[in-house]
Amino acid sequence: EGDVFTYDPGFTSTAACDSAITYIDGDKGELQYRGYPIEQLAEQSHFLEVCYLLLYGELPNAAQMQDFEHRVTNHTMVHEQMHYFFRGFRRDSHPMATMVGVVGAMSAFYHDSTDISDPWQREVAAIRMIAKLPTIAAMAYKYSMGQPFVYPKNSLDYASNFLHMCFAVPCADYVVDPILSKAMDRIMMLHADHEQNASTSTVRLAGSSGANPFACVAAGIACLWGPAHGGANQACLEMLREIGTVENIPEAIRRAKDKNDPFRLMGFGHRVYKNFDPRAKVMKESADEVLDLLGIHDNETLKVAKELERIALEDTYFVEKKLYPNVDFYSGIILEAMGFPTSMFTPIFAVSRTVGWISQWKEMIGDPTQKIGRPRQLYIGQTARDYVAVNDR
Ligand code: SDX
Repeated sequence: EGDVFTYDPGFTSTAACDSAITYIDGDKGELQYRGYPIEQLAEQSHFLEVCYLLLYGELPNAAQMQDFEHRVTNHTMVHEQMHYFFRGFRRDSHPMATMVGVVGAMSAFYHDSTDISDPWQREVAAIRMIAKLPTIAAMAYKYSMGQPFVYPKNSLDYASNFLHMCFAVPCADYVVDPILSKAMDRIMMLHADHEQNASTSTVRLAGSSGANPFACVAAGIACLWGPAHGGANQACLEMLREIGTVENIPEAIRRAKDKNDPFRLMGFGHRVYKNFDPRAKVMKESADEVLDLLGIHDNETLKVAKELERIALEDTYFVEKKLYPNVDFYSGIILEAMGFPTSMFTPIFAVSRTVGWISQWKEMIGDPTQKIGRPRQLYIGQTARDYVAVNDR
């Protein structure tokens, strides 16, 4: 009416973009990377092979895998001067704060992989991102503890290298436990990509302006940090610890249903999945397996998580709102059992999701018809009016 902007109530949101990388069916609880079900990849593949699949669209043959592994492995060190960036942070900074800063600072290095008009430079930027994020995340962890940085070892596989850089110390031998390495590799596969989630959309929107790819990934890290997104794994474990015992679950359920209470069941609910998050199922099986193999049998947190899930899934509120455990519900239990503090949970999510971000960025940048992203709004503010002098207000 008049000059108030109105819109057709029948307006349906169009897809944010076309993409051939990841498919989700939220009603069926299905997730596929380039057509391969996540359950099969989690069981039969490994993270670096999934990286190749997400980047290039096909599973590699042996020669392609060997070449890809060689290229990633030989980019795992960071420029020695990047060590100085960490010194600007307080030791008690959250590792995600450090990662936003240091990954952003990568845009001030590696000038030979920032000209996005050059397909080769785009390729090198992607390889460098996948290779260096574990090193930077491990450095953020070491810095937070006041321990010396541990350099990557080319003789180790991707997940083992990350664990080695996090847990090795110069004064003692450290042998990566293959159980932990397999569990870490599976967690990385489960978090690798998830179509147009908030942080991936952030990377795409930043990249659509032609911005430096390292700066775009830093923007994705910043978005992932939020407790409604990747920060939920840390918030979920802290929630489970706060609940403490199964006897306290009914109160948690009551609070989660109380509209006046900001408390939510972290690790529950999802914008797309209105059925089980398939990653949560795999993660739950892994939690049982890893804790059992580590000889951790009476894990109270896991007991609370399973009982909370059981009660919530029988509660009409959660059933009606189609709230199920998501990828963040069990991951923290495994990461804690592996020896990580809760502050490292989201950085590990960021390391894993880097391949998704950079694959989606490459897909967008490589499309010659691509234009800058420019979301519109529904204006609900004041209609036009004239300025009033201060003495007349
Ligand atoms: C990730 O998008 C992705 O793909 C993300 C991700 C990925 O791989 O990139 O899957 C990773 O971010 C998983 C989500 C992690 N976040 C959490 O676990 C935080 C807790 N969950 C909620 O904050 C919420 O469920 C969201 C943010 C995940 C989803 O938000 P939606 O779809 O916008 O849902 P909503 O907030 O509109 O909730 C719908 C209803 C609401 O009630 P009504 O307003 O309709 O009355 O369900 C309620 C909410 O109050 N609700 C919850 C709840 N989640 C939603 N109530 C209690 N506890 C919860 N966890």
